[in-house]
Amino acid sequence: MQPSRRKSHLFSGESFGMKHRKNNNLSIFVVVFSCFLFGVFMYNEDVKSIAEFPFSSRPSKAPEEQESTQTNTKPVQENIKTVHENTVSISSRTSLEEPQFAQKDGLDHKSIETKAEELQKIELPQVVEEEEEEDIEEVELPPEDCDLFTGQWVYDNETHPLYKEDECEFLTAQVTCMRNGRKNSMYQNWRWQPRDCSLPKYKARLLLEKLRNKRLMFVGDSLNRNQWESMVCLVQSVIPPGRKSLNKTGSLAIFRVEDYNATVEFYWAPFLVQSNSDDPKMHSILNRIIMPESINIHGENWKGVDYLIFNTYIWWMNTFKMKVLRGSFDEGATEYDEIERPVAYARVLNTWSEWVDKNVDPNRTTVFFSSMSPLHIKSLDWDNPDGIKCALETTPILNRTTPLEVGTDRRLFVVASNVTKSMKFPVHFVNITSLSEYRKDAHTSVHTIRQGKMLTPEQQADPATYADCIHWCLPGLPDTWNEFLYARIISRT
Ligand SMILES: *[C@@H]1O[C@H](CO)[C@@H](O)[C@H](O)[C@H]1NC(C)=O
Ligand SMILES: *[C@@H]1O[C@H](CO)[C@@H](O)[C@H](O)[C@H]1NC(C)=O
Ligand SMILES: *[C@@H]1O[C@H](CO)[C@@H](O)[C@H](O)[C@H]1NC(C)=O
Ligand SMILES: *[C@@H]1O[C@H](CO)[C@@H](O)[C@H](O)[C@H]1NC(C)=O
Ligand SMILES: *[C@@H]1O[C@H](CO)[C@@H](O)[C@H](O)[C@H]1NC(C)=O
Ligand SMILES: *[C@@H]1O[C@H](CO)[C@@H](O)[C@H](O)[C@H]1NC(C)=O
Ligand SMILES: *[C@@H]1O[C@H](CO)[C@@H](O)[C@H](O)[C@H]1NC(C)=O
Repeated sequence: MQPSRRKSHLFSGESFGMKHRKNNNLSIFVVVFSCFLFGVFMYNEDVKSIAEFPFSSRPSKAPEEQESTQTNTKPVQENIKTVHENTVSISSRTSLEEPQFAQKDGLDHKSIETKAEELQKIELPQVVEEEEEEDIEEVELPPEDCDLFTGQWVYDNETHPLYKEDECEFLTAQVTCMRNGRKNSMYQNWRWQPRDCSLPKYKARLLLEKLRNKRLMFVGDSLNRNQWESMVCLVQSVIPPGRKSLNKTGSLAIFRVEDYNATVEFYWAPFLVQSNSDDPKMHSILNRIIMPESINIHGENWKGVDYLIFNTYIWWMNTFKMKVLRGSFDEGATEYDEIERPVAYARVLNTWSEWVDKNVDPNRTTVFFSSMSPLHIKSLDWDNPDGIKCALETTPILNRTTPLEVGTDRRLFVVASNVTKSMKFPVHFVNITSLSEYRKDAHTSVHTIRQGKMLTPEQQADPATYADCIHWCLPGLPDTWNEFLYARIISRT
Protein backbone atom coordinates (compact mmCIF):
# COMPACT_ATOMS: atom_id res chain seq x y z
CA MET A 1 0.00 0.00 0.00
CA GLN A 2 2.74 2.38 -0.90
CA PRO A 3 0.58 4.93 -2.68
CA SER A 4 -1.70 5.29 0.26
CA ARG A 5 1.18 6.30 2.44
CA ARG A 6 2.50 8.65 -0.14
CA LYS A 7 -0.87 10.19 -0.40
CA SER A 8 -1.11 10.55 3.32
CA HIS A 9 2.15 12.39 3.40
CA LEU A 10 1.16 14.52 0.54
CA PHE A 11 -2.10 15.58 2.02
CA SER A 12 -1.08 15.86 5.59
CA GLY A 13 1.82 18.02 4.52
CA GLU A 14 -0.55 20.14 2.58
CA SER A 15 -3.13 20.21 5.26
CA PHE A 16 -0.99 21.11 8.17
CA GLY A 17 0.83 23.62 6.12
CA MET A 18 0.82 27.29 6.78
CA LYS A 19 -2.39 29.18 6.85
CA HIS A 20 -1.49 31.81 4.31
CA ARG A 21 -3.14 31.27 1.02
CA LYS A 22 -1.34 29.86 -1.90
CA ASN A 23 -0.86 31.79 -5.02
CA ASN A 24 -0.57 29.20 -7.67
CA ASN A 25 0.21 30.74 -10.95
CA LEU A 26 0.38 28.39 -13.83
CA SER A 27 3.96 27.69 -13.18
CA ILE A 28 5.94 24.68 -14.13
CA PHE A 29 5.56 23.62 -10.56
CA VAL A 30 1.82 23.49 -10.89
CA VAL A 31 1.98 21.56 -14.09
CA VAL A 32 4.35 19.05 -12.60
CA PHE A 33 2.35 18.91 -9.43
CA SER A 34 -0.83 18.36 -11.37
CA CYS A 35 0.73 15.55 -13.30
CA PHE A 36 1.83 14.06 -10.04
CA LEU A 37 -1.65 14.35 -8.60
CA PHE A 38 -3.09 12.88 -11.70
CA GLY A 39 -0.74 9.98 -11.41
CA VAL A 40 -1.56 9.48 -7.77
CA PHE A 41 -5.18 9.72 -8.57
CA MET A 42 -5.08 7.25 -11.38
CA TYR A 43 -3.18 4.88 -9.25
CA ASN A 44 -5.50 5.31 -6.37
CA GLU A 45 -8.53 4.84 -8.50
CA ASP A 46 -6.89 1.63 -9.35
CA VAL A 47 -6.15 0.37 -5.92
CA LYS A 48 -9.17 2.08 -4.54
CA SER A 49 -7.49 2.92 -1.33
CA ILE A 50 -8.88 5.15 1.27
CA ALA A 51 -6.58 7.12 3.45
CA GLU A 52 -6.27 5.82 6.94
CA PHE A 53 -6.91 8.99 8.82
CA PRO A 54 -10.52 9.87 9.24
CA PHE A 55 -10.62 13.43 8.05
CA SER A 56 -9.07 12.65 4.76
CA SER A 57 -11.02 9.65 3.72
CA ARG A 58 -11.71 10.01 0.10
CA PRO A 59 -14.28 8.44 -2.07
CA SER A 60 -12.76 5.30 -3.27
CA LYS A 61 -14.42 5.14 -6.58
CA ALA A 62 -15.51 7.09 -9.49
CA PRO A 63 -19.24 6.91 -9.13
CA GLU A 64 -19.83 5.30 -12.43
CA GLU A 65 -23.08 5.43 -14.20
CA GLN A 66 -24.02 1.98 -15.05
CA GLU A 67 -27.38 0.80 -16.04
CA SER A 68 -28.68 -2.63 -15.71
CA THR A 69 -31.37 -3.12 -18.22
CA GLN A 70 -33.01 -6.41 -17.79
CA THR A 71 -36.50 -6.47 -19.09
CA ASN A 72 -37.91 -9.52 -17.43
CA THR A 73 -39.30 -7.92 -14.36
CA LYS A 74 -42.70 -8.51 -13.05
CA PRO A 75 -44.57 -5.78 -11.33
CA VAL A 76 -45.02 -7.15 -7.90
CA GLN A 77 -47.56 -6.14 -5.42
CA GLU A 78 -45.54 -6.60 -2.37
CA ASN A 79 -46.33 -3.92 0.05
CA ILE A 80 -49.61 -5.53 0.85
CA LYS A 81 -49.08 -8.30 3.27
CA THR A 82 -51.73 -10.55 4.52
CA VAL A 83 -50.52 -10.75 8.04
CA HIS A 84 -49.90 -7.59 9.88
CA GLU A 85 -49.25 -7.05 13.47
CA ASN A 86 -50.44 -3.57 13.48
CA THR A 87 -51.13 -1.83 16.66
CA VAL A 88 -53.42 0.93 17.57
CA SER A 89 -51.65 4.14 17.17
CA ILE A 90 -50.23 6.15 19.96
CA SER A 91 -51.06 9.52 18.64
CA SER A 92 -51.71 11.47 15.54
CA ARG A 93 -52.15 15.05 14.67
CA THR A 94 -54.07 14.58 11.49
CA SER A 95 -57.67 13.85 10.97
CA LEU A 96 -57.05 11.84 7.87
CA GLU A 97 -58.79 8.81 9.17
CA GLU A 98 -60.44 7.45 12.23
CA PRO A 99 -59.03 4.14 13.37
CA GLN A 100 -55.37 4.57 12.88
CA PHE A 101 -52.74 1.99 12.44
CA ALA A 102 -49.17 2.33 13.26
CA GLN A 103 -46.51 0.27 11.73
CA LYS A 104 -45.83 -2.49 14.13
CA ASP A 105 -43.50 -1.33 16.79
CA GLY A 106 -43.42 -4.34 18.97
CA LEU A 107 -44.25 -2.34 22.04
CA ASP A 108 -47.98 -2.01 22.20
CA HIS A 109 -50.49 -4.73 22.63
CA LYS A 110 -52.67 -5.18 19.70
CA SER A 111 -56.32 -4.76 19.85
CA ILE A 112 -58.16 -7.69 18.42
CA GLU A 113 -60.77 -5.48 16.93
CA THR A 114 -58.22 -3.42 15.22
CA LYS A 115 -56.42 -6.39 13.90
CA ALA A 116 -59.56 -7.95 12.51
CA GLU A 117 -60.47 -4.76 10.81
CA GLU A 118 -57.03 -4.45 9.44
CA LEU A 119 -56.99 -7.95 8.05
CA GLN A 120 -60.33 -7.40 6.43
CA LYS A 121 -59.14 -4.24 4.85
CA ILE A 122 -55.98 -5.70 3.59
CA GLU A 123 -57.36 -8.85 2.17
CA LEU A 124 -59.74 -7.00 -0.07
CA PRO A 125 -58.41 -5.82 -3.36
CA GLN A 126 -55.63 -7.58 -5.10
CA VAL A 127 -56.24 -5.55 -8.20
CA VAL A 128 -53.42 -3.15 -8.37
CA GLU A 129 -55.36 -0.18 -9.59
CA GLU A 130 -57.92 0.00 -6.85
CA GLU A 131 -56.06 0.23 -3.63
CA GLU A 132 -55.38 3.85 -3.39
CA GLU A 133 -58.09 4.67 -0.94
CA GLU A 134 -57.24 1.69 1.19
CA ASP A 135 -53.68 2.84 1.32
CA ILE A 136 -54.54 6.34 2.23
CA GLU A 137 -56.85 5.23 4.98
CA GLU A 138 -54.53 2.85 6.69
CA VAL A 139 -51.40 4.80 7.19
CA GLU A 140 -50.83 6.59 10.39
CA LEU A 141 -48.68 9.67 10.38
CA PRO A 142 -46.17 10.44 13.08
CA PRO A 143 -46.76 13.72 14.88
CA GLU A 144 -44.96 16.50 13.13
CA ASP A 145 -42.87 17.32 16.17
CA CYS A 146 -41.72 13.74 16.73
CA ASP A 147 -37.96 13.35 16.41
CA LEU A 148 -37.76 10.56 13.85
CA PHE A 149 -33.98 10.32 14.05
CA THR A 150 -33.59 9.28 17.66
CA GLY A 151 -34.36 5.63 18.09
CA GLN A 152 -32.92 2.23 17.35
CA TRP A 153 -32.49 -0.43 14.70
CA VAL A 154 -34.89 -3.33 15.08
CA TYR A 155 -34.56 -6.63 13.27
CA ASP A 156 -37.81 -7.02 11.34
CA ASN A 157 -37.82 -9.42 8.44
CA GLU A 158 -41.60 -9.16 8.16
CA THR A 159 -41.68 -5.59 6.91
CA HIS A 160 -38.17 -5.16 5.56
CA PRO A 161 -36.84 -5.02 2.93
CA LEU A 162 -39.52 -2.83 1.37
CA TYR A 163 -38.78 -4.33 -2.07
CA LYS A 164 -36.65 -7.13 -3.42
CA GLU A 165 -33.32 -6.66 -5.12
CA ASP A 166 -34.21 -8.82 -8.12
CA GLU A 167 -37.59 -7.18 -8.57
CA CYS A 168 -36.23 -3.72 -9.22
CA GLU A 169 -34.79 -3.65 -12.70
CA PHE A 170 -33.54 -0.10 -12.25
CA LEU A 171 -30.90 -0.89 -9.67
CA THR A 172 -27.39 -0.47 -11.00
CA ALA A 173 -24.73 -3.09 -10.47
CA GLN A 174 -23.06 -0.76 -8.01
CA VAL A 175 -25.64 -1.59 -5.33
CA THR A 176 -27.01 -5.09 -6.04
CA CYS A 177 -24.90 -6.76 -3.39
CA MET A 178 -26.64 -10.13 -3.34
CA ARG A 179 -26.44 -10.49 -7.09
CA ASN A 180 -22.81 -9.48 -6.79
CA GLY A 181 -22.10 -12.36 -4.46
CA ARG A 182 -22.84 -11.19 -0.97
CA LYS A 183 -23.89 -14.18 1.12
CA ASN A 184 -25.55 -12.67 4.15
CA SER A 185 -28.72 -10.70 3.49
CA MET A 186 -29.58 -9.63 7.01
CA TYR A 187 -28.60 -6.05 6.27
CA GLN A 188 -31.91 -5.80 4.39
CA ASN A 189 -34.02 -6.63 7.41
CA TRP A 190 -33.43 -3.78 9.79
CA ARG A 191 -36.17 -1.28 10.45
CA TRP A 192 -35.56 2.06 12.07
CA GLN A 193 -37.74 2.51 15.11
CA PRO A 194 -37.93 6.10 16.36
CA ARG A 195 -38.10 6.30 20.13
CA ASP A 196 -41.23 8.41 20.48
CA CYS A 197 -43.35 7.47 17.48
CA SER A 198 -43.29 5.18 14.47
CA LEU A 199 -42.51 5.70 10.85
CA PRO A 200 -45.60 5.35 8.71
CA LYS A 201 -46.09 2.08 6.92
CA TYR A 202 -44.67 2.31 3.43
CA LYS A 203 -47.28 2.33 0.67
CA ALA A 204 -46.07 2.91 -2.85
CA ARG A 205 -49.45 4.06 -4.08
CA LEU A 206 -49.89 6.57 -1.35
CA LEU A 207 -46.53 8.08 -2.20
CA LEU A 208 -47.27 8.07 -5.90
CA GLU A 209 -50.56 9.78 -5.26
CA LYS A 210 -48.67 12.57 -3.54
CA LEU A 211 -46.28 12.73 -6.47
CA ARG A 212 -49.01 12.90 -9.08
CA ASN A 213 -48.22 15.63 -11.63
CA LYS A 214 -45.14 16.46 -9.63
CA ARG A 215 -41.38 16.27 -9.79
CA LEU A 216 -39.18 14.97 -7.02
CA MET A 217 -35.44 15.57 -7.41
CA PHE A 218 -32.34 14.51 -5.52
CA VAL A 219 -29.46 16.92 -5.96
CA GLY A 220 -25.93 16.15 -4.85
CA ASP A 221 -23.29 13.44 -4.87
CA SER A 222 -23.20 9.67 -5.32
CA LEU A 223 -24.78 9.08 -1.92
CA ASN A 224 -27.80 11.05 -3.00
CA ARG A 225 -27.77 9.01 -6.18
CA ASN A 226 -27.69 5.90 -4.01
CA GLN A 227 -30.84 7.22 -2.31
CA TRP A 228 -32.41 8.14 -5.63
CA GLU A 229 -32.01 4.55 -6.82
CA SER A 230 -33.73 3.43 -3.66
CA MET A 231 -36.59 5.86 -4.25
CA VAL A 232 -37.03 4.65 -7.82
CA CYS A 233 -37.37 1.09 -6.53
CA LEU A 234 -39.75 2.14 -3.81
CA VAL A 235 -42.19 3.66 -6.28
CA GLN A 236 -41.72 1.41 -9.29
CA SER A 237 -42.96 -1.86 -7.82
CA VAL A 238 -46.63 -1.01 -8.39
CA ILE A 239 -46.16 0.30 -11.92
CA PRO A 240 -46.58 -2.19 -14.75
CA PRO A 241 -43.83 -2.63 -17.35
CA GLY A 242 -43.94 -0.10 -20.13
CA ARG A 243 -45.49 2.55 -17.92
CA LYS A 244 -42.18 3.61 -16.41
CA SER A 245 -38.87 4.66 -17.89
CA LEU A 246 -35.44 5.86 -17.01
CA ASN A 247 -33.60 8.49 -19.03
CA LYS A 248 -30.10 9.61 -18.13
CA THR A 249 -28.99 12.69 -20.00
CA GLY A 250 -26.01 14.75 -18.90
CA SER A 251 -26.20 15.65 -15.23
CA LEU A 252 -29.82 14.65 -14.97
CA ALA A 253 -31.38 11.22 -14.59
CA ILE A 254 -35.16 11.10 -14.82
CA PHE A 255 -37.34 8.21 -13.79
CA ARG A 256 -40.81 8.77 -15.17
CA VAL A 257 -44.04 7.15 -14.07
CA GLU A 258 -46.50 7.61 -16.89
CA ASP A 259 -49.77 6.91 -15.15
CA TYR A 260 -49.09 9.43 -12.45
CA ASN A 261 -47.27 11.96 -14.61
CA ALA A 262 -44.64 11.89 -11.87
CA THR A 263 -40.87 11.94 -11.99
CA VAL A 264 -38.16 10.90 -9.55
CA GLU A 265 -34.97 12.61 -10.66
CA PHE A 266 -31.30 12.87 -9.77
CA TYR A 267 -29.12 15.85 -10.58
CA TRP A 268 -25.36 15.46 -10.25
CA ALA A 269 -23.77 18.38 -8.36
CA PRO A 270 -21.38 16.93 -5.79
CA PHE A 271 -20.64 20.30 -4.19
CA LEU A 272 -24.04 21.87 -5.00
CA VAL A 273 -22.13 24.92 -6.24
CA GLN A 274 -20.12 25.00 -9.45
CA SER A 275 -16.93 22.98 -9.38
CA ASN A 276 -14.48 21.28 -11.68
CA SER A 277 -16.16 17.98 -10.74
CA ASP A 278 -19.51 18.72 -12.34
CA ASP A 279 -19.08 16.67 -15.46
CA PRO A 280 -21.47 13.78 -14.99
CA LYS A 281 -19.06 11.30 -16.56
CA MET A 282 -15.56 12.65 -16.07
CA HIS A 283 -15.97 13.96 -12.57
CA SER A 284 -13.59 11.95 -10.50
CA ILE A 285 -10.75 14.37 -10.39
CA LEU A 286 -8.57 14.53 -7.39
CA ASN A 287 -7.68 18.18 -7.52
CA ARG A 288 -11.10 19.46 -6.69
CA ILE A 289 -11.79 23.15 -6.97
CA ILE A 290 -15.05 24.86 -6.17
CA MET A 291 -16.66 28.22 -6.80
CA PRO A 292 -18.52 28.64 -3.51
CA GLU A 293 -20.61 31.60 -4.58
CA SER A 294 -21.74 30.17 -7.94
CA ILE A 295 -24.90 28.14 -7.93
CA ASN A 296 -27.22 29.64 -10.54
CA ILE A 297 -26.13 27.47 -13.44
CA HIS A 298 -27.05 24.35 -11.50
CA GLY A 299 -29.98 26.05 -9.85
CA GLU A 300 -31.71 26.63 -13.17
CA ASN A 301 -32.31 22.88 -13.26
CA TRP A 302 -33.93 22.81 -9.85
CA LYS A 303 -36.53 25.50 -10.42
CA GLY A 304 -40.16 24.47 -10.32
CA VAL A 305 -39.43 21.07 -8.79
CA ASP A 306 -41.94 20.09 -6.12
CA TYR A 307 -39.70 18.06 -3.81
CA LEU A 308 -35.99 18.83 -3.60
CA ILE A 309 -33.55 16.73 -1.59
CA PHE A 310 -30.03 18.13 -1.32
CA ASN A 311 -26.81 16.71 0.08
CA THR A 312 -23.07 17.31 -0.18
CA TYR A 313 -20.38 15.64 1.88
CA ILE A 314 -18.21 12.87 0.56
CA TRP A 315 -16.36 15.01 -1.96
CA TRP A 316 -15.25 17.31 0.81
CA MET A 317 -13.39 14.54 2.56
CA ASN A 318 -10.55 14.27 0.08
CA THR A 319 -8.35 16.90 1.65
CA PHE A 320 -8.29 18.85 4.88
CA LYS A 321 -8.60 22.11 3.03
CA MET A 322 -10.86 23.04 0.19
CA LYS A 323 -9.59 24.66 -2.96
CA VAL A 324 -11.60 27.74 -3.78
CA LEU A 325 -11.21 29.26 -7.21
CA ARG A 326 -10.40 32.93 -7.57
CA GLY A 327 -12.57 34.04 -10.39
CA SER A 328 -14.43 31.81 -12.75
CA PHE A 329 -13.67 28.66 -14.71
CA ASP A 330 -15.42 30.29 -17.63
CA GLU A 331 -12.88 33.08 -17.63
CA GLY A 332 -10.08 30.57 -17.46
CA ALA A 333 -9.16 31.24 -13.86
CA THR A 334 -6.72 28.78 -12.38
CA GLU A 335 -5.66 30.38 -9.13
CA TYR A 336 -7.20 29.22 -5.96
CA ASP A 337 -7.08 29.69 -2.22
CA GLU A 338 -7.07 26.85 0.21
CA ILE A 339 -9.65 27.24 2.88
CA GLU A 340 -10.48 25.27 6.00
CA ARG A 341 -13.08 22.69 5.17
CA PRO A 342 -15.84 23.89 7.53
CA VAL A 343 -15.35 27.48 6.44
CA ALA A 344 -15.68 26.60 2.77
CA TYR A 345 -18.61 24.33 3.56
CA ALA A 346 -20.37 27.20 5.32
CA ARG A 347 -19.79 29.47 2.34
CA VAL A 348 -21.30 26.88 0.03
CA LEU A 349 -24.29 26.25 2.23
CA ASN A 350 -24.90 29.96 2.62
CA THR A 351 -24.90 30.31 -1.15
CA TRP A 352 -27.28 27.40 -1.35
CA SER A 353 -29.60 28.73 1.35
CA GLU A 354 -29.79 32.13 -0.30
CA TRP A 355 -30.63 30.45 -3.57
CA VAL A 356 -33.43 28.47 -1.94
CA ASP A 357 -34.82 31.49 -0.10
CA LYS A 358 -34.83 33.48 -3.31
CA ASN A 359 -35.93 30.93 -5.89
CA VAL A 360 -38.15 28.36 -4.25
CA ASP A 361 -41.80 28.88 -3.47
CA PRO A 362 -42.56 27.45 -0.03
CA ASN A 363 -46.21 27.10 -0.95
CA ARG A 364 -45.33 24.75 -3.73
CA THR A 365 -42.08 23.05 -2.91
CA THR A 366 -40.81 20.97 -0.02
CA VAL A 367 -37.06 21.12 0.53
CA PHE A 368 -34.94 18.60 2.39
CA PHE A 369 -31.26 18.70 3.26
CA SER A 370 -29.65 15.38 4.17
CA SER A 371 -26.85 15.34 6.69
CA MET A 372 -23.75 13.35 5.90
CA SER A 373 -23.68 9.68 5.12
CA PRO A 374 -20.90 8.11 7.21
CA LEU A 375 -18.03 5.81 6.17
CA HIS A 376 -16.78 2.74 8.00
CA ILE A 377 -13.11 2.46 7.26
CA LYS A 378 -11.55 1.39 10.54
CA SER A 379 -13.04 -1.62 12.28
CA LEU A 380 -11.37 -0.57 15.51
CA ASP A 381 -13.86 2.28 15.60
CA TRP A 382 -16.41 -0.33 16.61
CA ASP A 383 -13.95 -2.46 18.59
CA ASN A 384 -13.47 -5.21 16.08
CA PRO A 385 -9.72 -5.89 15.92
CA ASP A 386 -10.30 -8.71 13.44
CA GLY A 387 -12.33 -6.64 11.02
CA ILE A 388 -11.22 -5.46 7.59
CA LYS A 389 -12.77 -2.07 7.05
CA CYS A 390 -16.54 -2.75 6.78
CA ALA A 391 -16.06 -5.97 4.85
CA LEU A 392 -16.73 -8.60 7.50
CA GLU A 393 -19.63 -6.90 9.20
CA THR A 394 -23.03 -8.56 9.22
CA THR A 395 -24.92 -6.73 11.94
CA PRO A 396 -25.38 -3.10 12.90
CA ILE A 397 -23.67 -1.74 15.96
CA LEU A 398 -26.42 -2.46 18.44
CA ASN A 399 -25.25 -1.67 21.90
CA ARG A 400 -22.58 0.80 22.76
CA THR A 401 -21.66 2.12 26.09
CA THR A 402 -19.38 4.75 24.64
CA PRO A 403 -20.38 7.15 21.85
CA LEU A 404 -19.60 5.95 18.38
CA GLU A 405 -16.88 7.73 16.46
CA VAL A 406 -16.30 6.54 12.91
CA GLY A 407 -14.52 9.59 11.57
CA THR A 408 -17.44 11.69 10.44
CA ASP A 409 -16.54 15.36 10.19
CA ARG A 410 -19.07 16.66 12.68
CA ARG A 411 -18.04 20.22 12.05
CA LEU A 412 -19.84 20.04 8.73
CA PHE A 413 -22.87 18.56 10.44
CA VAL A 414 -23.04 21.57 12.74
CA VAL A 415 -22.76 23.94 9.80
CA ALA A 416 -25.54 22.18 7.90
CA SER A 417 -27.77 21.99 10.93
CA ASN A 418 -27.21 25.69 11.69
CA VAL A 419 -27.70 26.91 8.16
CA THR A 420 -30.90 24.98 7.57
CA LYS A 421 -32.29 26.16 10.89
CA SER A 422 -31.62 29.82 10.26
CA MET A 423 -33.23 29.99 6.83
CA LYS A 424 -36.38 31.82 5.97
CA PHE A 425 -37.45 28.80 3.95
CA PRO A 426 -38.59 25.91 6.17
CA VAL A 427 -36.06 23.24 5.14
CA HIS A 428 -36.41 19.73 6.56
CA PHE A 429 -33.04 18.68 7.94
CA VAL A 430 -32.80 14.92 7.42
CA ASN A 431 -30.56 13.87 10.27
CA ILE A 432 -29.34 10.53 8.93
CA THR A 433 -25.78 10.68 10.20
CA SER A 434 -25.88 9.09 13.64
CA LEU A 435 -28.37 6.39 12.79
CA SER A 436 -26.35 5.47 9.71
CA GLU A 437 -23.15 5.30 11.72
CA TYR A 438 -24.54 2.17 13.34
CA ARG A 439 -24.84 0.49 9.94
CA LYS A 440 -21.34 -0.85 9.42
CA ASP A 441 -23.04 -3.92 7.93
CA ALA A 442 -24.83 -2.12 5.13
CA HIS A 443 -22.07 -0.98 2.75
CA THR A 444 -21.50 -2.47 -0.67
CA SER A 445 -18.00 -3.53 0.38
CA VAL A 446 -16.53 -5.85 -2.26
CA HIS A 447 -19.91 -6.66 -3.79
CA THR A 448 -19.88 -3.81 -6.19
CA ILE A 449 -18.35 -2.41 -9.33
CA ARG A 450 -15.23 -0.40 -9.88
CA GLN A 451 -14.85 1.77 -12.95
CA GLY A 452 -17.93 0.17 -14.41
CA LYS A 453 -16.74 -3.40 -13.96
CA MET A 454 -17.62 -5.97 -11.36
CA LEU A 455 -14.79 -6.65 -8.96
CA THR A 456 -12.95 -9.80 -9.93
CA PRO A 457 -12.82 -12.71 -7.47
CA GLU A 458 -9.24 -11.74 -6.73
CA GLN A 459 -10.25 -8.22 -5.91
CA GLN A 460 -13.17 -9.41 -3.85
CA ALA A 461 -10.76 -11.50 -1.86
CA ASP A 462 -8.81 -8.39 -0.95
CA PRO A 463 -11.23 -6.15 0.92
CA ALA A 464 -8.49 -4.19 2.62
CA THR A 465 -7.79 -2.71 -0.80
CA TYR A 466 -11.08 -2.94 -2.62
CA ALA A 467 -13.97 -2.72 -0.16
CA ASP A 468 -16.25 0.25 -0.75
CA CYS A 469 -17.31 1.35 2.71
CA ILE A 470 -18.91 4.54 1.45
CA HIS A 471 -21.86 3.44 -0.64
CA TRP A 472 -24.72 1.21 0.46
CA CYS A 473 -26.37 -1.96 -0.80
CA LEU A 474 -29.95 -1.80 -2.04
CA PRO A 475 -32.38 -2.73 -0.72
CA GLY A 476 -30.83 -1.35 2.43
CA LEU A 477 -30.07 1.69 4.47
CA PRO A 478 -31.02 4.38 1.90
CA ASP A 479 -34.55 2.93 1.93
CA THR A 480 -34.76 4.09 5.54
CA TRP A 481 -33.59 7.56 4.53
CA ASN A 482 -36.44 7.54 2.05
CA GLU A 483 -38.85 6.45 4.73
CA PHE A 484 -38.09 9.77 6.42
CA LEU A 485 -38.88 11.65 3.22
CA TYR A 486 -41.98 9.54 2.75
CA ALA A 487 -43.21 10.40 6.25
CA ARG A 488 -42.98 14.10 5.45
CA ILE A 489 -44.28 13.89 1.91
CA ILE A 490 -47.44 12.02 2.81
CA SER A 491 -47.98 14.37 5.75
CA ARG A 492 -48.22 17.31 3.41
CA THR A 493 -51.79 18.00 2.54
C1 LIG B 1 -29.53 13.90 15.04
O1 LIG B 1 -29.95 12.62 15.48
C2 LIG B 1 -29.21 12.10 16.56
C3 LIG B 1 -29.73 10.72 16.89
O2 LIG B 1 -29.76 9.91 15.72
C4 LIG B 1 -29.32 13.02 17.75
O3 LIG B 1 -28.52 12.54 18.80
C5 LIG B 1 -28.88 14.41 17.36
O4 LIG B 1 -29.10 15.29 18.43
C6 LIG B 1 -29.65 14.90 16.17
N1 LIG B 1 -29.11 16.20 15.76
C7 LIG B 1 -29.87 17.17 15.29
C8 LIG B 1 -29.21 18.44 14.96
O5 LIG B 1 -31.07 17.06 15.12
C1 LIG C 1 -37.51 -14.11 9.90
O1 LIG C 1 -36.48 -14.49 10.75
C2 LIG C 1 -36.83 -15.57 11.59
C3 LIG C 1 -35.70 -15.76 12.57
O2 LIG C 1 -34.47 -15.69 11.92
C4 LIG C 1 -37.11 -16.80 10.75
O3 LIG C 1 -37.48 -17.88 11.57
C5 LIG C 1 -38.23 -16.48 9.79
O4 LIG C 1 -38.44 -17.56 8.90
C6 LIG C 1 -37.91 -15.24 8.98
N1 LIG C 1 -39.08 -14.84 8.23
C7 LIG C 1 -38.99 -14.46 6.97
C8 LIG C 1 -40.26 -13.98 6.35
O5 LIG C 1 -37.95 -14.46 6.35
C1 LIG D 1 -47.46 16.71 -15.54
O1 LIG D 1 -46.51 17.07 -14.56
C2 LIG D 1 -45.87 18.30 -14.79
C3 LIG D 1 -44.87 18.51 -13.69
O2 LIG D 1 -43.98 17.47 -13.65
C4 LIG D 1 -46.87 19.42 -14.82
O3 LIG D 1 -46.21 20.62 -15.11
C5 LIG D 1 -47.94 19.13 -15.85
O4 LIG D 1 -48.93 20.10 -15.76
C6 LIG D 1 -48.55 17.78 -15.59
N1 LIG D 1 -49.49 17.45 -16.64
C7 LIG D 1 -50.77 17.31 -16.43
C8 LIG D 1 -51.61 16.92 -17.61
O5 LIG D 1 -51.29 17.50 -15.34
C1 LIG E 1 -33.97 11.42 -22.93
O1 LIG E 1 -34.05 12.81 -22.65
C2 LIG E 1 -33.41 13.61 -23.64
C3 LIG E 1 -33.41 15.05 -23.15
O2 LIG E 1 -34.66 15.42 -22.68
C4 LIG E 1 -34.15 13.43 -24.96
O3 LIG E 1 -33.54 14.21 -25.94
C5 LIG E 1 -34.10 11.96 -25.34
O4 LIG E 1 -34.86 11.76 -26.49
C6 LIG E 1 -34.65 11.09 -24.23
N1 LIG E 1 -34.42 9.70 -24.55
C7 LIG E 1 -35.36 8.79 -24.46
C8 LIG E 1 -34.97 7.40 -24.81
O5 LIG E 1 -36.50 9.05 -24.10
C1 LIG F 1 -48.11 31.38 0.15
O1 LIG F 1 -49.47 31.27 0.54
C2 LIG F 1 -49.86 32.24 1.49
C3 LIG F 1 -51.29 31.94 1.94
O2 LIG F 1 -52.03 31.40 0.88
C4 LIG F 1 -49.75 33.62 0.87
O3 LIG F 1 -50.12 34.61 1.80
C5 LIG F 1 -48.32 33.84 0.44
O4 LIG F 1 -48.19 35.07 -0.22
C6 LIG F 1 -47.84 32.73 -0.46
N1 LIG F 1 -46.42 32.89 -0.67
C7 LIG F 1 -45.86 32.87 -1.87
C8 LIG F 1 -44.39 33.01 -1.90
O5 LIG F 1 -46.51 32.73 -2.87
C1 LIG G 1 -24.35 -6.19 23.72
O1 LIG G 1 -23.20 -6.12 24.54
C2 LIG G 1 -23.03 -7.25 25.37
C3 LIG G 1 -21.84 -7.02 26.29
O2 LIG G 1 -21.10 -5.93 25.88
C4 LIG G 1 -22.80 -8.48 24.49
O3 LIG G 1 -22.64 -9.62 25.27
C5 LIG G 1 -24.03 -8.65 23.59
O4 LIG G 1 -23.80 -9.72 22.69
C6 LIG G 1 -24.30 -7.39 22.80
N1 LIG G 1 -25.54 -7.54 22.09
C7 LIG G 1 -25.62 -7.37 20.79
C8 LIG G 1 -26.96 -7.58 20.19
O5 LIG G 1 -24.69 -7.06 20.09
C1 LIG H 1 -24.08 27.04 15.14
O1 LIG H 1 -25.05 27.69 15.96
C2 LIG H 1 -24.69 27.78 17.31
C3 LIG H 1 -25.86 28.35 18.07
O2 LIG H 1 -26.46 29.40 17.37
C4 LIG H 1 -23.45 28.65 17.44
O3 LIG H 1 -23.05 28.71 18.79
C5 LIG H 1 -22.34 28.04 16.62
O4 LIG H 1 -21.21 28.89 16.61
C6 LIG H 1 -22.77 27.80 15.21
N1 LIG H 1 -21.73 27.05 14.57
C7 LIG H 1 -21.42 27.21 13.30
C8 LIG H 1 -20.32 26.35 12.79
O5 LIG H 1 -22.00 27.98 12.56
